[in-house]
Order: sequence, then C-alpha cells, then structure tokens
Amino acid sequence: MVLLMNSFVILCVLIISPVIYSAQVRAEKKPALSEGKNIYLHYCAPCHGMKGDGKGFNAENLDPRPAKHTDAKLMSRRTDKDLYDVIKGGGKAVGKSTLMPPWGDTLGNNRIKSLVLYLRKLCKCQGL
Ligand code: HEC
Repeated sequence: MVLLMNSFVILCVLIISPVIYSAQVRAEKKPALSEGKNIYLHYCAPCHGMKGDGKGFNAENLDPRPAKHTDAKLMSRRTDKDLYDVIKGGGKAVGKSTLMPPWGDTLGNNRIKSLVLYLRKLCKCQGL
C-alpha cells in the first residue's frame, strides 16, 4: 500500500512539474535592467567582478583575464549582438577564450538580453 502511495506521489510530481515549468517559461519576463544586474551578480561576478571591473575572485586564475565591462573604450567597439552572442555561445563561439563559458543553456533569450542592458549600464556606453 505504502509502495502504491509512493508511486502515486512520484507519478503526480512527474506529471505536474513539466506543467509548472512551462508556466514559468511562459511567464519569463521581458528584458529588464534589474534582472540583468541580479543575474550578473550571481553568474558573472565571480570572474568579471561585482562592479564589472574584471576583478572577480576567480580572475587571477584566468589567462586571458575576464573582460572589464566597465571599460567604455572596449565595450563601445562591440554591438549589442556581439555581446549577446558571446554570452549565449561562450568565448568559443566567437573566437575568444573558452574560459568565457556559454550561458545559452542556463539563461533564456530574455535573460541574456537583460544582461546586455546591464552591461551597457556598467560601461556607460552605447554599442557600435
Ligand atoms: C569562469 C569565468 C567567467 C565567467 C563566470 C563569465 N565570464 Fe565572461 N569572460 C571570461 C573571460 C576569461 C573572458 C575573456 C575572453 C577573451 O578575451 O578571449 C570573458 C569575456 C566576456 C565578454 C566579451 C568581452 C569582449 O571582449 O567582447 C563578455 C561580454 C562577457 N564575458 C560577459 C559575461 C557575462 C554576461 C557573464 C555572466 C553570465 C560572464 N561573462 C561570465 C570569463 C568568465
């Protein structure tokens, strides 16, 4: 009986979780600066630094060093699409170092766009 109950619970979880998941995906917010900042502090700061100055705690171990997102000179030479592409596909996808990981599987399109908005805030610059 207990076994039957357990299987029932597991079955319910299996059926319900994709429904909840797809609801979450549908509810994914439009790109937003505040969201970009939160994601940045969580995923990007360990390498790129809390302030985007390239001085994350992991930076010393990396060669090349993580980009300085506060560097307006560098960042204004990139289009928003360039930034999007390197975040989505990682350094490898755009001929840069593989030490820059790909985020396409972790973050959806809107979250990556939120990050691009936040990168533009960090550099206080526009794209090409
Ligand atoms: C494991 C460390 C690490 C993490 C985590 C990381 N990066 Fe990077 N990133 C790098 C390195 C190293 C480079 C430099 C690659 C090069 O110059 O070849 C880089 C480069 C970049 C560039 C390219 C700058 C240019 O020159 O065009 C962007 C944009 C970028 N990272 C954004 C992000 C964002 C956004 C996140 C968080 C979602 C992130 N990175 C997380 C290590 C990291």
